[in-house]
Amino acid sequence: MHIFYGKASLRDHLKSIKLAHSSIGFVPTMGALHDGHLALIQKSLQENDNTVVSIFVNPTQFNNPEDLEKYPRTLQEDINKLTALNSNIILYAPSVEDIYDGKPVAQPFDFDGLENQMEGKFRPGHFNGVGTIVKRLFEIVEPTNAYFGEKDFQQLQIVKKMVAKNHLKINIIGCPIYREANHLAMSSRNERLSAQEREQASFIYKTLKEVNGKFETQSVTSISEWVQKSFSQNPNFELEYFVIADEATLLPCIRKNKNKKYRAFIAVLVNNIRLIDTISLN
Ligand code: PAF
Repeated sequence: MHIFYGKASLRDHLKSIKLAHSSIGFVPTMGALHDGHLALIQKSLQENDNTVVSIFVNPTQFNNPEDLEKYPRTLQEDINKLTALNSNIILYAPSVEDIYDGKPVAQPFDFDGLENQMEGKFRPGHFNGVGTIVKRLFEIVEPTNAYFGEKDFQQLQIVKKMVAKNHLKINIIGCPIYREANHLAMSSRNERLSAQEREQASFIYKTLKEVNGKFETQSVTSISEWVQKSFSQNPNFELEYFVIADEATLLPCIRKNKNKKYRAFIAVLVNNIRLIDTISLN
């Protein structure tokens, strides 16, 4: 596998690939790679001549210093997983200095309001950090196709918006959520759960599945009340938000409209570890 720790040497390596007009698939990650990441990388390998994976725990998208400090960092294990998957993968694992040139600050973005819903309300500044790093990585890698998981559906929509607003010639490809055997959405943060918490966290998807079943016949208000009540009766979780929203605008659904696509979004704290999940409803 080709590993680069600096943008200059990565760019040098990618120059010949670009001259040959061969396609570049890109999977940005923050490491602690799980099967969900590997599925994105596999898709990129299938659809592109070259695949670049980045591993970078981006400080500017964390509004909670404890979350940043405790975010799992497992570079050597990640390298082993990538090598086992495909020895042609190009890995970019930069330092904060290499990315931010001594100024690790997020730039402000206008994502037409997508940034003000859900994660944006509970993690102020998060999407400016995501926009900053994804734009910077896109400028360095200049991919043909970039792959993002649908677990972070709001992030996916925001990246699409950024690409459209900046007229970038990059296809953004959303990929289905990968789940553990108990249906907990795969996330690097799951590493921080105890075995018992991990098992208990299956309650999140179980609730979303029930929401899916109720969506056709019940009002959004009564479904939301039911979710609030279910979580208030479960001492293992603190519900941060539950929202049924329009997939395109991410605005909360007040009255259902047959012509719109809706999704349920949820964020939950388990022993102070923040987990999110989402499900398509129609
Ligand atoms: O989804 C993530 O892992 C991160 O938000 C991303 C896209 C790699 C940017 O740091």
